[in-house]
This record gives sequence, structure tokens and C-alpha cells, in this order.
Amino acid sequence: MDYILAPSILAADFAVLGEEMRRTADNGARYLHFDVMDGMFVPSISFGMPVLKSIHEVTEQVMDAHLMVQEPVRYVEDFRDAGADIVTVHLEACEDVGATLKKIKECGMKAGLSICPETGVCAVEEYIPDIDMLLVMSVHPGFGGQKFIPESLTKIRDIRNMAVAQGRELDIQVDGGIYLSNVREVLDAGANIIVAGSAIFKGDPEKNTREFMEILKSY
Ligand code: DX5
Ligand code: ZN
Repeated sequence: MDYILAPSILAADFAVLGEEMRRTADNGARYLHFDVMDGMFVPSISFGMPVLKSIHEVTEQVMDAHLMVQEPVRYVEDFRDAGADIVTVHLEACEDVGATLKKIKECGMKAGLSICPETGVCAVEEYIPDIDMLLVMSVHPGFGGQKFIPESLTKIRDIRNMAVAQGRELDIQVDGGIYLSNVREVLDAGANIIVAGSAIFKGDPEKNTREFMEILKSY
């Protein structure tokens, strides 16, 4: 199992985005987590395809697009064209989850499926064979800098058990309120891809990335 750090650029300084990304890439962060918000599925609006395209052109990092967007199936091709490697959609935002995941795969990208804190893990069981990554939201999607919801740990454990029962080495990503102080609990519960926004970009991103990577490498 690969243990990967995915800095969320939502917390970065957009005036110097290229430099912010390099600070994480040069210190071992293999993914770049890209939070797309549409003002419908979540109250806030962040950024979209043109920003991803610019970033993609100047980094080797894996472009991990987290679409907090109503009916994301409408944008799958656009994100492929912009350079996304992974597209994650919310179970709660899709009218036809299966068709949306199929479209992501047909476009040659990895398919991720995400659930909000109030969605139970039973809802994802049937999709495990079709996905590359399951994203457990450990805060209510929409804003960075929120507090980690501890019940997420049980969900991570349950999903890891489900995947093992299905013989899948599924990537489990966790997003929201993760800091150096609680990342071990998340990893111990069975997650292997860690999203961190505030914990990376508030303060010194190089030092923060190195400290996260030291923990991830010990797994
Ligand atoms: C929340 C986003 C997260 C967010 C995480 O809707 O999906 O990726 O940026 O930020 P922190 O790490 O600050 O909780
Ligand atoms: Zn996210």
C-alpha cells in the first residue's frame, strides 16, 4: 500500500500558487488536491478547470480533483482536458453514481467516490468494485480549516474492512481537519491518502510537508 500526501491548495496563497505547489512537491507530496466548489452542492465557490490546467502544466504532481459539484458527470471531460488524473465525485451529488464513475473511467482517469459525514458507509459498498479511491470527508465539505469529526475513524475502518472482504487494495483518502497531531489515528484506522490544507499552507509549507512525510514514510 502506498502512503501519499495530497496538499489541498484551497489553503494556499493563490497569488503565488506555483511556488506553493513546488514547496510541497520538492518535499515529497506526490498529489495535489484540487477542491472544486460550485456554490450549489456546497455554499462556497472556489476555482475550476482553467486553474487546474495552469497548475498541471508546471508540476509533475498527480492532479487529484475533488468535485464538490452538483451532477459532476457534466464536467468529467472538461477535467480530463484540463489535466486531471483522478476525479472524485460525491455520492450525494450524482443522480446516477454508476454512470458517473463509468464516464470517469472511460475518460482514462482514476475514479474516486466521496461521502459526506452524514452518509453511512453502506451506501458505497456496491461501488467498491468500480472505484480506485474512496474519499471519506472528515468535515462537512465546503470550507477549509474545520475541526476533524472523530466518527470518521469508524467509517475509515469499516470501509477498509469492506474493501479487504472484496479482495480490493482500495485507496482510502481522508479530507478535512487533519494535522500532524491526529494524522496517525487516521492512518491507523486504514487510510492511505492524506489531504491537508491548513496544516500544510498555514505556516511553512516546506517544513510542514517534510513533517507529514516523515510520518507517512513510517507506515
Ligand atoms: C473541504 C475540502 C478540503 C479542505 C481541507 O471542503 O474538501 O480539501 O481544503 O482543508 P483543511 O485541511 O484545512 O481542513
Ligand atoms: Zn477536498
